[in-house]
Amino acid sequence: MPSLPIRPRRNRKSPAVRGLVRETQLRPEDLIYPLFLQEGTVDEPIESMPGCTRWSLDGLVKEVGEAVAVGVRSVVLFPAIDESLKTPLAEECHNAEGLVPRAIAAIKAAHPEVVVITDVALDPYNSAGHDGIVETSPDGDIKILNDETVDILCQQALCHARAGADIVSPSDMMDGRVAAIRAALDEAGFSEVSILSYTAKYASGYYGPFRGALDSAPKAGDKKTYQMDPANAREAIREALIDAEEGADMLMVKPAGPYLDIIHRMREAIELPIAAYQVSGEYLMIKSAAKDGWIDEEKVAMESVLGIKRAGADMILTYFAKSLAAKFG
Ligand code: PBG
Repeated sequence: MPSLPIRPRRNRKSPAVRGLVRETQLRPEDLIYPLFLQEGTVDEPIESMPGCTRWSLDGLVKEVGEAVAVGVRSVVLFPAIDESLKTPLAEECHNAEGLVPRAIAAIKAAHPEVVVITDVALDPYNSAGHDGIVETSPDGDIKILNDETVDILCQQALCHARAGADIVSPSDMMDGRVAAIRAALDEAGFSEVSILSYTAKYASGYYGPFRGALDSAPKAGDKKTYQMDPANAREAIREALIDAEEGADMLMVKPAGPYLDIIHRMREAIELPIAAYQVSGEYLMIKSAAKDGWIDEEKVAMESVLGIKRAGADMILTYFAKSLAAKFG
């Protein structure tokens, strides 16, 4: 037999050796669990996202408890707002008695150690279904107003901070919002509240099931004047440099799986921690293929999240957080 001195397979010969050479480790504490909530006492399965639920406050607290029990330490909240509360200026987003502030308080009361992250954007509250304030011209063209929106986002972030949020997470993609939110928080005495900025949020088709879950799809137009063009990578780094300059504590890339190159580039370019969001469409594709029996849900969920971490994400928002964490234990 000819000598073959270099045999990479030697490093794969047993589980223990594979363990020694494993380059990327996923840990339950890397995962952030996105949770949907609604008014009332009913926990309602979400049709567009099988396995996900719009929780009542009691259900939410119980679900957080289950996630904590398997090692998840961070959650992010998404409210389904009653149609009657949606307005052009999205006032409900900074109502101190609103669904999100009550949810933050309820989670903190039951699980003070859990990191509570809130989404800062107007789409669940805005009658137009956009992340910002919409101006409609007489001939029906719409414009998303940047600076007017940022003022409201600051009020929303303050409302979440007052209720006890640890991290506010602007997902709206307005210009200048990180600096404005940082200043508003600091001025009100919330210098400890962090900002996780959706830095590179793409105008993606993968958000469909989420918009179904919250009934938050835009009523007119699309989000392409504020969310990024999927064709662009350098622009993501530009956004990252701006967010860092404006005082973001953590940056996010979203979606995750189809944008691994962006995560990787951002990791190389910036020292801040990077989060990546495995969004509803990525989740649903895995769920649907597994339901038909063609892929193993657990394996593919784990592999997809591991790939996101390997690309350079420090933390991953995923609807699989609880079920994956339960598997690590
Ligand atoms: C809205 C928001 C969206 C998601 C998180 N925050 C939808 C959108 O921008 O239209 C999507 C998350 C997912 O698809 O899982 N600010």
